Amino acid sequence: MAVRQLILLFLLVASGCRQEEKTVDPGQEQRFALLREHLKRQLGDKYEAPVPAASPDQLKRGGELFAKVCAACHGGRGEGKGHVATALAGTPTNLTSPHEASFFSERARLYIIRKGMPGTAMMGWEDVLTEQDILAIYLYIRSLIQYE
Ligand code: HEC
Repeated sequence: MAVRQLILLFLLVASGCRQEEKTVDPGQEQRFALLREHLKRQLGDKYEAPVPAASPDQLKRGGELFAKVCAACHGGRGEGKGHVATALAGTPTNLTSPHEASFFSERARLYIIRKGMPGTAMMGWEDVLTEQDILAIYLYIRSLIQYE
């Protein structure tokens, strides 16, 4: 079997396991679905609005801020394994995962960074960071998603 096929097979098996894992926790699935409905109502037409491309300055600023305020939980490269990650309510999202990134829209993720996720360690940052800085951080985490 070619290496490529083996990798595909592995990915298929891994995604199968993952789905199983998700159904073991109906609480989380339901919480996410409810939050998505809530965000769709909050954002209305803007829910699916694209977020424009980042400038190099925004990415730089976003990266610096990410290291300061997000990495403790989400990990230095956004992989979700920051040093305080195991002690939290909820598991910090792996921000490099395309699968995780696709559940909420871009605008919804920006909104989550502003307002937080109720009942989890993901607090809202709108009282701590400016709107510009929140956008810069969002653009930075978007650049961490590994599509291949
Ligand atoms: C105290 C730990 C902590 C810090 C600090 C933190 N997060 Fe989170 N974050 C979490 C947890 C836990 C979740 C997942 C909650 C869940 O899945 O129930 C989360 C979820 C998210 C999500 C939603 C992911 C999705 O689409 O499902 C985004 C986006 C996010 N965080 C970005 C950030 C950014 C950007 C920062 C820095 C400004 C940050 N977080 C700081 C703990 C943290």
